[in-house]
Amino acid sequence: MRIGVSLPVNLLERFDEIILQRGYSSRSEGIRDSIRNYIVQFEWMSDVQGERVGVITIVYSHVQRGLEGNLTDIQHEFSSIIQSSMHVHLDHDNCLEVIVLRGEGKDVKTAAERMMALKGVKHVKLTTTSLGKEL
Ligand code: NI
Repeated sequence: MRIGVSLPVNLLERFDEIILQRGYSSRSEGIRDSIRNYIVQFEWMSDVQGERVGVITIVYSHVQRGLEGNLTDIQHEFSSIIQSSMHVHLDHDNCLEVIVLRGEGKDVKTAAERMMALKGVKHVKLTTTSLGKEL
């Protein structure tokens, strides 16, 4: 199936550089691989359950109107499981936040997904770990 997608120029340029470096035969193959990785990531996140410690790393544009307020609202909503957060002003336009959560895996995942869905958020990474008790 063929699809048409609109992308910011800088995103496409960076993508093309990476597929060149990785030796992909075509842009389409790179896009297919990216979509597969996206699905794997989603499925991995869907498996997160039980009590977990999670770390959300988020990079976002602080010039995106309303975004910081929305991020703060989400963090207050999940304040019962958020243990700590750190804010770094990356450059003129971008901020990084690292948020440590401890609670039911589903809630940790939901918090990350809510942040991911906001406009102006450039990257969200969720890693989770067990509490070490069973290791
Ligand atoms: Ni900042």
